[in-house]
Amino acid sequence: MTYKITLIPGDGIGPEVTSAAVRVLEATGLKFEWESFAAGAEAYEKYKEYIPKELNESIERTRIGLKGPVTTPIGGGFSSINVELRKRFELYANVRPIRNLPGVHTRYPGVDLVVVRENTEGLYSGIEHEVVPGVVESLKIITEKASTRISKFAFNYARKMGRKKIHSIHKANIMKMSDGLFIRCSRNISKEYPEIIYGEHIVDNTCMQLVMNPYQYDILLLENLYGDIVSDLCAGLVGGLGLAPGANIGERASIFEAVHGSAPDIAGKNIANPTAVIRSGILMLRHLDEQDAANRVKAAVHHVYREGKHLTRDMGGTTSTSEFADKVVEAIHSK
Ligand code: NAI
Ligand code: MG
Repeated sequence: MTYKITLIPGDGIGPEVTSAAVRVLEATGLKFEWESFAAGAEAYEKYKEYIPKELNESIERTRIGLKGPVTTPIGGGFSSINVELRKRFELYANVRPIRNLPGVHTRYPGVDLVVVRENTEGLYSGIEHEVVPGVVESLKIITEKASTRISKFAFNYARKMGRKKIHSIHKANIMKMSDGLFIRCSRNISKEYPEIIYGEHIVDNTCMQLVMNPYQYDILLLENLYGDIVSDLCAGLVGGLGLAPGANIGERASIFEAVHGSAPDIAGKNIANPTAVIRSGILMLRHLDEQDAANRVKAAVHHVYREGKHLTRDMGGTTSTSEFADKVVEAIHSK
């Protein structure tokens, strides 16, 4: 069987890290047919569209994507391709497992938690306008439908993965109505899952708690912006953005991508860490129910880290992006 996958290499470090991940996934012996498309500024130059029609059609068809980061201009310019893809395909759940790798020394060994981020609304509604000169309004949209849907997803995920605890993260003391609705929905859903411990923490306190004692958390359930910010914090607990994978899950399609962005500061130098995208590839293999291949890629990545001889710059080594992929591929073949 051949898996058709939509590949979005993205820009910045995107093409470097996704091509590393593609090589690693192919080393499992599974057959993939990659339908590769540009998105964002690069796509606009070619097709006069930020998300080309062909890309759209490919995702409709394959229903699975592997994606590199896409740069979003600050201030003006086009709106985020990432946000647009998540909205367009209703990729409503952004799942980001946070786990240490063997041999990677951090302040927090043995962290094991999952960020579940609502991926379609909140302050990412993109509805902003100037009320009068000097005054701008950005609207935070929270709906019962999306809050209930993400809560159900988190509790089902907990049940399926044998996880014990969910904290709904909010600022309902200040945003009484919007975050109030969000936690009301998660609290309601929690009643259907009596075996899972349910708690609520305010988001600023959560950041402090995570840095003081990340072990108290199991699953963090957050609306869009808090999920974005807390994800990067959590990535930092286990060694940085080069390691943290993610999955954007929807009913019609799912797109797998790292937590990190296009890292313009290190792009084009073959020094970025492809681990986060490779680990996103493992999540994709699990989604395809290719558990054996997923386990083999995981074991190979762990092998390279445990050995500690071929690490990228962010992990204190000098190994390039492509050499790192070579080592993971070698480890897959030698098993
Ligand atoms: P970033 O995540 O690209 O980089 C933050 C820091 O982490 C930088 O110092 C970078 O060098 C480092 N870093 C990130 N990934 C790394 C990797 N794989 N290996 C080694 N070091 C790594 O965040 P930043 O700089 O705030 O955003 C850059 C651009 O990326 C922006 O245009 C932003 O909008 C976009 N972005 C896109 C995302 C996506 O496509 N899903 C997600 C996040 C940001
Ligand atoms: Mg982010």
